[in-house]
This record gives sequence, C-alpha cells and structure tokens, in this order.
Amino acid sequence: MEPCSCLLDRQLTKYTANSSFNYEQKQHTFKNADIDAKNAQHFAMVTKFVDNIEAHQEKGTWLYIFGDETRIKGNQSAYGTGKTYLMDCIANALAERRIPGLYVTEETLFGDIRSTYSRNSEESETEVLSRYYNVPVLMIDDLFTASYSEWAEGKLYSILNERMDKNKITIITSNYATERIHLRLPLNGRKIASRIIGQAQRIEMIGPDRREKKARDRFQLETGNEL
Ligand SMILES: Nc1ncnc2c1ncn2[C@@H]1O[C@H](COP(=O)(O)OP(=O)(O)OP(=O)(O)O)[C@@H](O)[C@H]1O
Ligand SMILES: [Mg+2]
Repeated sequence: MEPCSCLLDRQLTKYTANSSFNYEQKQHTFKNADIDAKNAQHFAMVTKFVDNIEAHQEKGTWLYIFGDETRIKGNQSAYGTGKTYLMDCIANALAERRIPGLYVTEETLFGDIRSTYSRNSEESETEVLSRYYNVPVLMIDDLFTASYSEWAEGKLYSILNERMDKNKITIITSNYATERIHLRLPLNGRKIASRIIGQAQRIEMIGPDRREKKARDRFQLETGNEL
C-alpha cells in the first residue's frame, strides 16, 4: 500500500540533500569551487538553476550533467571534469536553503530497493520506491555505470517516469550522452533518453581531468617539486 500522501510529504521534508556527505564533500560549494574558463559556463548554469529552484520545482526541470568519451577532442577528458563536484555543490546549496533532497549513487539506489526483498527489512519496496518517486529533488551520481539487469532497467524507468509525471526535479551525472544510453540499457534506454531530453537542461562537461591537476598540486605541496 502506498503511504498516505500527507504522511509522505511530512517524511520527505526531513531529507537533507547532503546528509550522506563526509567532511570533504561538504566543502564542495559554489563559494569554494575553482572556477576557470573551462567550467565557468557550467557553474553559471547551475547557480542560475539553484537561484530559480522554486520555478523549476513547479515545472519539474531536470539537469543532466554528462561527459562522454566518444565526444572528446584532442587532449580533453570525459572523466574527472567535475560533474560529481558540481552536483555536490548543488546538494550543499539545497541543504543550506532547506530544500529537501536525496543524493545517491546508482549503486545505493538499487541497493536500497533490493534490501527490501530481505525478510527482515523494515521497509517495503513500495515505501522505498515512493521515496524515490516523490522526494522533491533526487540527485543520482554516475548513472548508467552498473551492468543492468532487466529488473534494474525496469526500476530505473519507473522512477524516472514517475518523477517526470509528478514534475519532480531530478539531477543526474553520467558518462553517457543521451544518444548512447540505449547501449547500456537495451530495454528501456531509448525511453529513458527521451524523458531526459524532454525534461533536462543538459550540461556537457568535457575538458581537463581535474584529478590530474589535484595530484600535481598535492605532489608539489608535499615535496616542493613539480610532478
Ligand atoms: N570546480 C572544482 N573546484 C575544485 N575541485 C574540483 C572542481 N571540479 C572538480 N574538482 C576535483 O577534481 C576531481 C574530479 O572531479 P569529479 O569527481 O567531480 O569528476 P567527475 O567528472 O565526476 O569524474 P567521473 O566522470 O570519473 O565521475 C575531484 O577530486 C574534485 O574534488
Ligand atoms: Mg563523478
């Protein structure tokens, strides 16, 4: 049975967008971020999105933050470009503004649903799904990474479809351009891509791999030498 909507609304307001974050992730904020010519536009789009969050809650706008290795040029990267960092900044900003949100990795999302199948689970599958259907802002990091079973494809499709129907904000990071999602999800990939195209502002982040720079900076700090 689906929990009554007033009870559900009350439960959902308790979700803090950055509640799963460790100390370091809590430092990923618009204020602390390194912003340069390569990511200024991405940060501008996202800060505008957060500034207008109420309007986006009405319309149910989504954000699809992606970097696809088949679209890079020259020495650009599709990895380490700051997609997760950018979504962390959104979650921290939402938490500060007390806008309820849930931030999960793909792995946590499916693990949450699957755990309800165990006999001593405190929550039913319906309860867990209704959380994912109804939370005002759902953020999913690194979507389309796992090997998908038919079961997982079906669950993901129903979560995204429900959220679209209910005008709920969904923010996704991924390494797949929308036209390649069906390669990961043969059953529902095209349906999911169509919903993302219809609902989302797409933010493509290809460029420098910031993990490299971080490693160089750390090495220099620790040794005084260039890497
Ligand atoms: N704007 C930024 N300011 C400071 N540090 C950043 C910024 N963007 C990214 N970083 C740092 O660079 C590293 C890579 O960033 P991140 O993990 O967000 O990349 P990603 O695009 O999600 O990579 P992947 O595709 O592999 O998931 C992290 O250590 C992150 O903290
Ligand atoms: Mg990432």
